[in-house]
Amino acid sequence: MTALYDEVQGSAAAIKAKLGVAPKVGLILGSGLGGYADKLGDARALDYAEIPGFPRSHVVGHKGRLVAGTRGGTSCIAMQGRVHMYEGHSAATVAFPARVLIALGAKTLIITNAAGGLNPAWQPGTLMLIRDHIDLLRDHPLRGPNDDRLGPRFPDMTHAYPRELRTLVKEAARSKGIPLEEGVYVAMPGPTYETPAEVKMLQGLGADATGMSTVPEVIVARHMGARVIGISCITNQAAGITGEELSHAEVTETANRVRTTFESLLDTILETLVTKGEA
Ligand code: HPA
Repeated sequence: MTALYDEVQGSAAAIKAKLGVAPKVGLILGSGLGGYADKLGDARALDYAEIPGFPRSHVVGHKGRLVAGTRGGTSCIAMQGRVHMYEGHSAATVAFPARVLIALGAKTLIITNAAGGLNPAWQPGTLMLIRDHIDLLRDHPLRGPNDDRLGPRFPDMTHAYPRELRTLVKEAARSKGIPLEEGVYVAMPGPTYETPAEVKMLQGLGADATGMSTVPEVIVARHMGARVIGISCITNQAAGITGEELSHAEVTETANRVRTTFESLLDTILETLVTKGEA
């Protein structure tokens, strides 16, 4: 069996050969948020199917391709679509592409998702900067033998979402007048949305938003020493808060509605990272 390290390097080498990239920032774009990749300048794209080792996404609205280009004065590589554990993938497989972005040179990952709001004060369309997370997925991307070439056996998670980057993002949002909340993201396995009883439990745990992604990628980024900025688009109030049933259509509708604001936020984050010499 090929070691994970070699698979990551092999994937990265294949991408480099086809796209010729050395990105500083990696973007993982969540449900309904993938359009940002189309805004990269001097863009070159590669379908996941053409990248050895890359898992394929099947969810409607997820394109499943990698786009390299420039934005805000820096070189970026964006994942337009990602796979989820509920499709049957292990946490390690879900997180594999994030490892490849880092192996390509991305020292900062901006990881985005659509999420249900647990904080009853937040209306659909709210953008939330992730301060911390709670992992309730039933698999862990680092389970199994550890390869020290990738990272340590027991990574610290105290600064998974580094304070200096969160401060930078909040200042960037404020300077552009973009409303931005901050809170704790809890990862649930899905694919069902939560029950109202689970939503009460998650609120009691101190979470502000719930979703089915992001955490495996954040863990491997931490493992490999990359820094993460996490942003949730609150597409709906979580189950039981309004009494209305939840639907994927509502999730994508809200994501589409806030698309312009979300993209301005990403733009200002990239510009600020460059201005501060962070990307
Ligand atoms: N729960 C879990 N995942 C989600 C939700 C939700 O309410 N909305 C969008 N992704």
